[in-house]
Amino acid sequence: MKKQFIRLTVNGDTREIAVAPNQALVEVIRDQFGLTGTKRGCTSGSCGVCTVNGAPGEAVLSCLELAIEWDGRSLTTIESVEQNGQLSPLQQAFWELGAVQCGFCTPGLIMSAKALLDANPAADAEAINEALAGAICRCTGHIKVKEAVARAVEVMAAANAVKEGSDGAQG
Ligand code: FES
Ligand code: FES
Repeated sequence: MKKQFIRLTVNGDTREIAVAPNQALVEVIRDQFGLTGTKRGCTSGSCGVCTVNGAPGEAVLSCLELAIEWDGRSLTTIESVEQNGQLSPLQQAFWELGAVQCGFCTPGLIMSAKALLDANPAADAEAINEALAGAICRCTGHIKVKEAVARAVEVMAAANAVKEGSDGAQG
């Protein structure tokens, strides 16, 4: 099949790349950007291990997306979540509560949860359940993962309250 060039930005890195019309976005992320944190599992939208974020707050199953339809668009992957070697509050909560599972499902769990918290920083248990419903781990459970996302909500709310307090004191 004849390839076409698209311009895609992943984690702020913009590249012109040749893609086949039937090439899935997950293939481009892994094979052309070399970002293998995003996993390729069922390739049919059932497991969530390929989850990336499109616009902030938007979880995208990259196995179901045609790369060619992402011409001119941008996305973020698990590799973008830590900043300068610092874990994000969400990653920190996973770490502290023992919610880090295997390297295959954890990136998708984090990216699903990140999309939720970007869209709804005050997510409640129901919203957390819903956001994680498509991120499957068949070997253990979601209990610690859900606790970790709830912890991240608390930590982020506390950090915002401190920031607002100091902004108010300065203003
Ligand atoms: S690989 Fe995309 S949902 Fe399973
Ligand atoms: S698939 Fe990762 S721990 Fe089960």
